[in-house]
Amino acid sequence: MNFPPEAPLLEVKNLRVSFFLPEGVVGAVQNISFSIGRGRTLALVGESGSGKSVTACSLLRLIQPPGRILAGRMILRSQRAGEIDIAHLDEKSGLLFTVRGGLMSMIFQEPMTALSPVHTVGNQIDEAILVHQDVSPAAARRLTLEMLNRVGISDADQRYGQYPHELSGGLRQRVVIAMALVCRPELLIADEPTTALDVTIQAQILGLIKSLQREIGCSVLLITHDFGVVAQMADDVAVMQRGEIVERGSVRDVLRNPQHAHTRALLDALPTRRSAARRTAVVAAHKGEPIGGDPGQK
Ligand SMILES: Nc1ncnc2c1ncn2[C@@H]1O[C@H](COP(=O)(O)OP(=O)(O)OP(=O)(O)O)[C@@H](O)[C@H]1O
Ligand SMILES: [Mg+2]
Repeated sequence: MNFPPEAPLLEVKNLRVSFFLPEGVVGAVQNISFSIGRGRTLALVGESGSGKSVTACSLLRLIQPPGRILAGRMILRSQRAGEIDIAHLDEKSGLLFTVRGGLMSMIFQEPMTALSPVHTVGNQIDEAILVHQDVSPAAARRLTLEMLNRVGISDADQRYGQYPHELSGGLRQRVVIAMALVCRPELLIADEPTTALDVTIQAQILGLIKSLQREIGCSVLLITHDFGVVAQMADDVAVMQRGEIVERGSVRDVLRNPQHAHTRALLDALPTRRSAARRTAVVAAHKGEPIGGDPGQK
């Protein structure tokens, strides 16, 4: 399917999601709009409870009662399946099935959320392949082993037959990444993919996501609290507060010149302004582009 190059892969327009609780209605996402370009990474940042995960789950239509998507459009311009308004897909439609795990996939904060404790990791990845691709079980197994290697699991043959609880947190998150990317989604949603991991493993996992993104050519919606991670990973950023997007722009512009008080507060939450500047400079050097200036010193 050919779309004009400027047409974003994903366009969310006026999305509203609420939870209808006995004690009242929680407006978790209130009329937000954003888009993600092809091959680009959008970071969604914001304090706890600001609506980031609800936004992510809405994209996959995973909001369960008492939650409900009240309004909005979520247009995915898929190379494989054409233009789809995810918000208006029938709950039982085959296309929604294709969207979930085929065209779009998600890495959750806690790897055990995505993994079944009673199946081996190999079988779970096989299953993800068999559901979305027309291949034989033997071919699925080959693809799984290839993918396990690709995510840096060296003894893939042995790991294939292990259960999630037999693996370390870092290895489990690698398995989840393998499962999320084995069907080559057009959009990867990563909801705090490294929060549960220790710092050195975090860096490795973020590096892995980035290199696989390049290889596959997918776009990424990355949810994080950490502007250091934003600087390292994202092209664009949207800042959420109480269910609304209060600021958005290129990472460069927002880091250099944050407009909203909430964005500045999140930047202040970094260990020090100095380290924010250092991280920005490191990233600039890494990308080979001049960025300069301390985002905190305007
Ligand atoms: N299943 C649910 N039932 C009731 N309210 C919910 C439910 N899920 C989310 N909410 C509410 O929706 C709002 C947004 O929650 P969400 O999980 O999106 O926050 P978040 O930005 O992802 O926070 P965190 O950074 O802590 O993960 C919160 O007020 C939360 O209490
Ligand atoms: Mg969340």
